[in-house]
Amino acid sequence: VNIFVAGASSFLGERVLEELIRSGHTVTAHVHRNTSQQMLAKKYPGISLVQCDLSSSEQVRGIIKSDMDAVMWFPGLLRDPDGKSFERVHIEATRNLISEFKQTTSAGKRWIHCSALGTGPLRAEKYFTTKWRAEELVRSSGFEYTILKPSLIFDDRPRWQHNFVTGIARTIRLSPFIPSVGTGNYLMQPVSVDDIVQTIMQSLAKPETIGKTYELGGPDKLTFDELSLIIARAMGAKKLLIHFPFWLIMPVVRILERIPSFLVSTEVVKVSTSGWDVRDPAREKEWQESFDLPMKRFTVESVRKFLGE
Ligand SMILES: NC(=O)c1ccc[n+]([C@@H]2O[C@H](COP(=O)([O-])OP(=O)(O)OC[C@H]3O[C@@H](n4cnc5c(N)ncnc54)[C@H](OP(=O)(O)O)[C@@H]3O)[C@@H](O)[C@H]2O)c1
Repeated sequence: VNIFVAGASSFLGERVLEELIRSGHTVTAHVHRNTSQQMLAKKYPGISLVQCDLSSSEQVRGIIKSDMDAVMWFPGLLRDPDGKSFERVHIEATRNLISEFKQTTSAGKRWIHCSALGTGPLRAEKYFTTKWRAEELVRSSGFEYTILKPSLIFDDRPRWQHNFVTGIARTIRLSPFIPSVGTGNYLMQPVSVDDIVQTIMQSLAKPETIGKTYELGGPDKLTFDELSLIIARAMGAKKLLIHFPFWLIMPVVRILERIPSFLVSTEVVKVSTSGWDVRDPAREKEWQESFDLPMKRFTVESVRKFLGE
């Protein structure tokens, strides 16, 4: 299959890219920033790369070629500094690429879309509503789509990209204690990047996944406190876990999130504290039973390997 991978430098996208190349697919990797382009060009010499801002319809024109059969979607943001970024990158960019894909290639268009667990039209968090609207664009596109909605994604291999583990680990390292927001009891269901890569690869070969939306949660539901303690243990950090009320944490995060390298944002706090687990047992089963998956667990050992501790 000839595949256009949008957001190929992302934490998840790069692992999919690696697997697609290994499996012998023809791939065009899309990146947004210069640094991402340099990183991928160095790591995958000879790879076909396209660099553009997908939220700009002019920049998107011509990036899909007529021999491409499938698009895989990985762009996404966790902060919205100008109040418009979520709409630009989640909605406008999806709309632009759908329109470009429609115009340039013929029938049987495949679209594998990475959204997020918990999206919905009535959610209070803009992250969830804008990701939902992108899903709706995909569902009404007429393409042969499969939509994946994962909880927090983890890896057990060291990476150059950051994720929630790096964010929490950095906070634990810099702080005299292990900070937790609110009750710390809200549930997370970390899902391994390998399980998602497998889902995507098998989706390409399974026509029964067309038109489906799957919710992806790992084998364990952990409270935020449990998750933080696993990370602290992997780091060998012997610190006390302290809860801070929401009203105290939010103003601090609001100031710190202006620093681009600060991984936590107000939206991340809002999204996390509303819980990120699969709530419907039927939905939970549907994904696991539709694919053959390793179902890796989020453990002290997996975090240790990821952090290179
Ligand atoms: N990580 C998680 O725990 C998690 C959980 C649930 C759902 N998801 C979803 O899964 C997908 C992959 O997540 P991830 O964590 O792997 O992503 P990530 O590492 O945060 O990367 C985000 C990607 O979006 C691209 N991007 C940003 N602005 C763009 C623009 N204007 N035009 C085109 N591309 C743009 C970035 O490209 P540059 O780096 O080049 O700017 C990067 O490739 C996303 O859709 C995310 O919402 C992630």
